[in-house]
Amino acid sequence: MLEVDGITTRYGAITALHGASLEVRAGELVALVGPTGAGKTTLLNTVAGLLRPATGSVRLDGEDVTGMEPATLVRKGLALVPEHRRIFKDLTVEENLRLGGTTASAADRKHRLEEAAEVFPVLRAKWNTSAGFLSGGEAQQLAVARALMSDPRLLLLDEPTMGLAPTLVDVVFDLLVRLREQGRTMLVVEQNATRILQLADRGYLLRTGNMVASGTGAELAADTSLFDTFIGGETSGSNS
Ligand SMILES: Nc1ncnc2c1ncn2[C@@H]1O[C@H](COP(=O)(O)OP(=O)(O)O)[C@@H](O)[C@H]1O
Ligand SMILES: [Mg+2]
Repeated sequence: MLEVDGITTRYGAITALHGASLEVRAGELVALVGPTGAGKTTLLNTVAGLLRPATGSVRLDGEDVTGMEPATLVRKGLALVPEHRRIFKDLTVEENLRLGGTTASAADRKHRLEEAAEVFPVLRAKWNTSAGFLSGGEAQQLAVARALMSDPRLLLLDEPTMGLAPTLVDVVFDLLVRLREQGRTMLVVEQNATRILQLADRGYLLRTGNMVASGTGAELAADTSLFDTFIGGETSGSNS
């Protein structure tokens, strides 16, 4: 479904990705892990069209979509839950969700709003509340629900548990499990590396802009030397 081939992405003189490649097949949950500053956000933002790679290509279902506008990519079935959630704090829950569904028909949008209210009871309870009043866990659910409003075939999630208390981390992981059971294809950047790799079909390890390892989630999760070398502080017990 997604083929990222040798992308180099720069911020001025800083090269954040040095020819990074990965792929995501239909139905897979793929984890992208690595230390802070490795280029994980840069990779997701490049795939989502927010950044343009200097070299390399991004293909979606075989079509070259490199450098296309974010809105075009949403219409092609891609949605990003960005780092730091980035919901609109002055808008209500419903208004935030509506913004996620601007590419859908009015009928689809209505149907998906009803679906969101069903799937996220926490959001239904605060439907007309300004998003600025939501807790971190609620705001994260809103960020995911908003991305789902475009009914994406491929969902990119950037650190969905960042800043959340442990019980809310569990809520987000449960949500990932449910999305996967629904057959959503996902590429997830996550700081809880061991935990996401245990859940993932496959994973990639990025370090200073280079892919340094890939394999099944279980293989990568089991390779503790990788974690000692590349991730350091993160341990398998960090979240239990
Ligand atoms: N807007 C930016 N301007 C300049 N450098 C940036 C910018 N965003 C990220 N970087 C740099 O690019 C590298 C990769 O960052 P990022 O993709 O955010 O990593 P990660 O998400 O893995 O923590 C880092 O060295 C970071 O400092
Ligand atoms: Mg990041």
